Amino acid sequence: MNENRPIGVFDSGVGGLTVAKEIKRLLPNESIIYFGDTEHLPYGDKSKETITRYSVKITKFLVKSKCKAIVVACNTATSNSIEEIRKAAGKVPVIDVISPVAKKVAFELHQKIGLIATKATVNSHAYKKSIKKLNKHLKVVELATPLLVPIIEEGFRNTAVSKNAIETYLSYKKFEDIETIILGCTHYPLIEKEIDAVFKGRVKVVNSPLIVVNELIHRLEKDNLLSKAEKPVYQFYLSDYTDNFITLAKSFFGKSIQLEQKQL
Ligand code: DGL
Repeated sequence: MNENRPIGVFDSGVGGLTVAKEIKRLLPNESIIYFGDTEHLPYGDKSKETITRYSVKITKFLVKSKCKAIVVACNTATSNSIEEIRKAAGKVPVIDVISPVAKKVAFELHQKIGLIATKATVNSHAYKKSIKKLNKHLKVVELATPLLVPIIEEGFRNTAVSKNAIETYLSYKKFEDIETIILGCTHYPLIEKEIDAVFKGRVKVVNSPLIVVNELIHRLEKDNLLSKAEKPVYQFYLSDYTDNFITLAKSFFGKSIQLEQKQL
C-alpha cells in the first residue's frame, strides 16, 4: 500500500475547510483532496435520502481518486448518512465528525450540554444519542440554527447580521444553564469567536476539527498509513464555484491551490 496517497475530505461548502486546515497543521506531510458540494448547499435543509445520495456520490469519487482515508467533514452527512457512506467507502477507513466529539465530551465535568447544528443534524438526534449512549446522566439540549450556514457562505461573518443571528439563537431559554456548547456543524468554527463573545466565557465552546483530526491521526497510525511525502498536494474540487470558497481556501492553503469545478 502506498501511504503517500491523499486523504479525502468533503463537506457541502466551506465548513469542511476548518477540518482540512487542521489536517494540514497537524499532518503536514499529508496530501488532501477536498470536495465542496457548493452546488447542493445547504445540506442541512435537505431530506435524509437527498443528503445520502450526494454523500455517497462524493465518497465513491474520493475512493476512485485513490484516497487512503475519508474524513466526512460534515455533521449533516455524518448524522444522516454515515452507514451508507461507510458502505460506499468499502475498505477505505472513514472518520466521521460526531463520534470522536461524543467520546470527548461524555465524561467531562458538566451536567448539561447545548448543541447547535443544522436542522437535519438536530432532527437526527445523532449527538444526543451518541453522548447518552456513553453517559446517560448527561443532559443534551439541541437547537437548529439554519441561518448560520448561509450567513457564513455569503461572507457575513463579523457583521451586524451574524451578531444578531447568533445572539438571537443563543438566547434560547433552555441554554440558560448549559456549561458546554458543541458546535455541531463544521461551518461554525468560523464564527467561534462571535459565539464565545455572547457567552462571555461562561460556557465552554467545543469545536470539532482538532478532536476529529486527532482521531484521524490515531487511525492512520494504527493502519500504518502515515505519509512521509515532503511536498504534499492540496487539490480542491467544487461542484459550483463560489468566491467565498476560493477566498477562504486560499487563506488557509496559500494562493497556489489547485481548484477545479466538478459535477458528480
Ligand atoms: N458543514 C455542514 C455540517 O457540518 C453542512 C452545512 C449545510 O450544508 O447545511 O453540517
